[in-house]
Amino acid sequence: MAIYPELAGKVAVLSGAGGNLGMALVRRFQAAGIKLALVDHKGDTLRQRLREAGVDDADILIGALDLTQKRAAIDEFVTQVVAQHGKVDILVNVAGGFKAGGPVHEMDEEIWDFLMNMNAKTAFLLSAAVARSMVMRRVGGRIVNVAARAALSGAPTLSGYSASKSAVLRLTESMAAELMQYGITVNAVMPSVIDTPQNRKNDPDADHSKWVTPESLADVILFLVSESARDISGAALPVYGRA
Ligand SMILES: NC(=O)c1ccc[n+]([C@@H]2O[C@H](COP(=O)([O-])OP(=O)(O)OC[C@H]3O[C@@H](n4cnc5c(N)ncnc54)[C@H](OP(=O)(O)O)[C@@H]3O)[C@@H](O)[C@H]2O)c1
Repeated sequence: MAIYPELAGKVAVLSGAGGNLGMALVRRFQAAGIKLALVDHKGDTLRQRLREAGVDDADILIGALDLTQKRAAIDEFVTQVVAQHGKVDILVNVAGGFKAGGPVHEMDEEIWDFLMNMNAKTAFLLSAAVARSMVMRRVGGRIVNVAARAALSGAPTLSGYSASKSAVLRLTESMAAELMQYGITVNAVMPSVIDTPQNRKNDPDADHSKWVTPESLADVILFLVSESARDISGAALPVYGRA
C-alpha cells in the first residue's frame, strides 16, 4: 500500500522532470498514484528518459517549454493540464541549475541573468500560472520549490547562484502568506549536494555516501505534498544528508 493513500488521483505538475531529481520524483509520484504533467526544456529527451527508466508515460502530459520566457505558453500548458485532468493539486518547481560565476567584480552580467532566470524566474512563472488555477478552484493545493543550502548565505564565486536560490526562498515565503487563505501550502527544500552522476564526475574524491540521493529528496517532497504536511507552509527544509 502507498504511504500516502490520499495522494492517489491527485494531479501534479513537475518542472525539470527530465533531470536527476525530476526522474526520482516521477517514480515516487507515480507509485503514489499521482497523475503527472511534466515540463522540461526538451520534450523528446524527457520522453526518452522516461522510457529508459521504465516509466509508463501513456497518461503523462508533457510540456516542452523554456520556463524563463513565453509566459503565455506556460499559462497555456497549465490550461491544457486542467482541460485533461480537471485540476492541478500539486506543483513541484525542480527546474534550475548551477553555474560558477567568479568574483562579482569580474563576473559577466550574462551569468547573473542566466542564474536568476534559471532558478528564480522559472519558479515564479510556473508558480503564478498554477497558483491562479488553484485559487480559482478554491480546494487547496501544494507547491514545493527546490532551493539549495547556498540560499542561506553567500560565498566566494557563488553570488549569482546564492542570490537566485535566496530569491526562491523569498518567493516561497511570500506565496505561502498570500495563499494561506486558500488552503494552499508553499514550501521549499534546500539540498546541499545531490548524489548525481555529474557531481560524482566533478568531485570523484568526495565521500559520496554523505550526499543526499535524489530518491531521499523525493521522499521529503512526497511528505510535503501529503496530507500529513497540511499545517506546514512557508518553510525551507534543509535536506543535507550528512554533507
Ligand atoms: N545537483 C545538486 O547537487 C543540487 C544541489 C542543490 C540544489 N539543486 C537544485 O535541485 C534541482 C534539481 O537538480 P538536478 O541535479 O536534478 O538538476 P538537473 O539534473 O540538471 O535537472 C534540472 C532540469 O531542469 C531543466 N531546466 C533547467 N532550466 C530550465 C528552463 N528554463 N525551462 C525548462 N526546464 C529547465 C533542465 O533541462 P536542461 O538540462 O535541458 O537545461 C533539467 O532537465 C535544481 O533546481 C537544482 O538547482 C541541485
